[in-house]
Amino acid sequence: MKAFIALSLLGTALAAPTATTFQARDFDLSSLTSGLSALTSGSAASSGSSESASSGSGSGTTSSSSGLAALASLFPSSSSSSGSTGSSDTSSGSDGLSSLLSSFTSGSGSMTENGVTQHSGSCKKLTFIFARGTTEMGNMGSVVGPEVASQLASLTGNQVTVQGVNYPADWEGNMSLGSSGGPTMASYVKEALQQCPNTKVVLGGYSQGSMVVHNAANSLSAGQLSGAVLFGDPLKMTSVGKLSSSKVKEFCASGDPVCENGFNVMAHLSYGADAKEAAQFLVEAAGVSS
Ligand SMILES: *[C@@H]1O[C@H](CO)[C@@H](O)[C@H](O)[C@H]1NC(C)=O
Repeated sequence: MKAFIALSLLGTALAAPTATTFQARDFDLSSLTSGLSALTSGSAASSGSSESASSGSGSGTTSSSSGLAALASLFPSSSSSSGSTGSSDTSSGSDGLSSLLSSFTSGSGSMTENGVTQHSGSCKKLTFIFARGTTEMGNMGSVVGPEVASQLASLTGNQVTVQGVNYPADWEGNMSLGSSGGPTMASYVKEALQQCPNTKVVLGGYSQGSMVVHNAANSLSAGQLSGAVLFGDPLKMTSVGKLSSSKVKEFCASGDPVCENGFNVMAHLSYGADAKEAAQFLVEAAGVSS
């Protein structure tokens, strides 16, 4: 199944070779280059960050190396070595890919946040709960979640509690359209509102994580959510539970194969550039001033 997805995406990419050209949006090109060289050389240069996922609720955020290898096969430079289904492969592509994903951190912010599950007791005006994309590390990932969180902190004067969703974010889970993390995300929303009845809860999700947001929102009532931002959302044509569409913002980069039928795999990694706009949207949607 995994191999099938990877191969079909790769096949799509190969079918349109010119469209796979990297389009620089606002990438940090130097980190891209180092990520890509780590990917191609398959070295163990994958940042000491790979085990930061020891998150509280024990739902296991360990990343699946075969999933990483499968995703790595999306990248032409490593496609020859992956795509086989052996589960024992801690192959070169994995380290390289996690290094590549980690390199898509456009700013500050932590890959793991547990502000709700490890509540400090001090209530903030805003609570931001984020679900990362497939194979991303920690519980916030690195492509866009941490940067949205730090933009929210600066826009609100640190009036934000941040929680990443502790869920596997693996390839098998991606087949379930968000149900592998949705119930956990919904439970964090309820927990946050119990701890702090006046906090405004806003959600964010990237790739598989955006499906997690849809799934969570479907089980919540209108008053429990104040806004949502979704990046590279395969379900972008569907509503986010009972949230009014004016409280939802979808970011879908041109050419992204996941949220539109594009062929530019790199576009799917570009959302860090939208973090500030997303944070501004959430602050307005929630009616929170700094
Ligand atoms: C995850 O599943 C969705 C919905 O089936 C699909 O559109 C998307 O391409 C998958 N994600 C990846 C990274 O393959």
